[in-house]
Amino acid sequence: MDFNLTEEHIMIRDAARDFAQTELLPGVIERDNKQEFPKEQIKKMGELGFLGMMVDPKYGGSGLDTISYVLAMEEISKIDASASVVMSVNNSLVCWGLEHYGNEEQKQKYLTKLASGESLGAFCLSEPEAGSDATSQKTTAIEKDDHYLLNGTKNWITNGRTADFYIVIAQTHIDKKHKGINAFIVEKGWKGFDVGPKEDKLGIRGSDTHSLQFNDVKVPKENRIGEDGFGFKFAMKSLAGGRIGIASQALGIASGAYELALKYSKERKAFGTEICNHQAIAFKLADMATQIEAARHLCMKAAWDKDQQNDYTMSGAMAKLYASQVAMDTTVEAVQIHGGNGFVKEYHVERLMRDAKITQIYEGTSEIQKIVISRGLIDK
Ligand code: CAA
Repeated sequence: MDFNLTEEHIMIRDAARDFAQTELLPGVIERDNKQEFPKEQIKKMGELGFLGMMVDPKYGGSGLDTISYVLAMEEISKIDASASVVMSVNNSLVCWGLEHYGNEEQKQKYLTKLASGESLGAFCLSEPEAGSDATSQKTTAIEKDDHYLLNGTKNWITNGRTADFYIVIAQTHIDKKHKGINAFIVEKGWKGFDVGPKEDKLGIRGSDTHSLQFNDVKVPKENRIGEDGFGFKFAMKSLAGGRIGIASQALGIASGAYELALKYSKERKAFGTEICNHQAIAFKLADMATQIEAARHLCMKAAWDKDQQNDYTMSGAMAKLYASQVAMDTTVEAVQIHGGNGFVKEYHVERLMRDAKITQIYEGTSEIQKIVISRGLIDK
């Protein structure tokens, strides 16, 4: 067992750290206030290879491993979780599924653009009445001559307006329940495809979250991913890796808040000394650092499982469950250590606290992660 990072890993981590400091930090508070999508920053992330990190270079990706992805996600998330969710969705839920289950034409047409950052992707599974209960898809894709006719509504879609290509999960054979579900690639601008208003959110306010409506959208048959009825498995397999991305996002939010709190505690004085010298604060820092280290190990273990081609469903779910709790606990304590200043936007920790909450909700709530983990234990 070797806990050392390779030189390449260190280089990637440092590149992500530099990018976050120089490109994301300026303006992050303003974008959060205005709910502004980090358009220019995401474009640069694409140019640097952060949007298709694990995709084979022959399809426009960076050809890196999952460990590199976790390292980069942590650094980007320390500064701007609105940018890192775009990165996570594009890498894990869109590019990964297309590379593994798309056919050659789909890869040439869509993956090359998505992995290089020329285009952006969205993953459309959730519906008004199908969040955790993902098999209850009401969106239908009914087979016609050379196409499917898509009808329905998707909710809380990351990159809802900014995406160019959407992976849409829909029910084709209602009688077959989840075995009748398919996944399709849908392009922005197709007739009958409308995007609803942007959601006004508690956190990750810069990210672009919308509902989508499909009214008799004609989807060519060649845009179905995989065999007929593969859509639910496709979604579950994509989400298993997506959860490593969100776990790393939670880790980054936690470590970002901790680093700010540590720095502040060494500068701020009370009762004649820097507040880090008071045990009440020092013990908080000790708890935060210990929990973050444990979360980092879980994220790395899940990434390692994926890179070794081990089953990573359970380790990814464990990483997300734990890291998202650590993100909540750590950001609340970081605000507390900052006192009155913690409640003020310019100190960043209140934003990190708001951003942390979503990591316990999207890509499977904490309760869903417990279902996945416990089923994995019992089925072993
Ligand atoms: N890999 C492969 N197949 C899987 C799988 C996995 N990880 N998990 C489940 N399946 C398969 C099962 O084997 C089963 O197939 P068979 O019938 O052929 O055996 C099928 O899927 C149905 O599974 P279950 O019977 O376990 O279904 P269930 O109704 O009990 O639900 C669940 C399972 C785990 C709760 C699932 O519904 C789930 O993960 N729900 C949460 C959905 C979710 O994460 N949504 C996030 C939205 S995306 C998002 O947030 C993106 C964003 O923008 C940030």
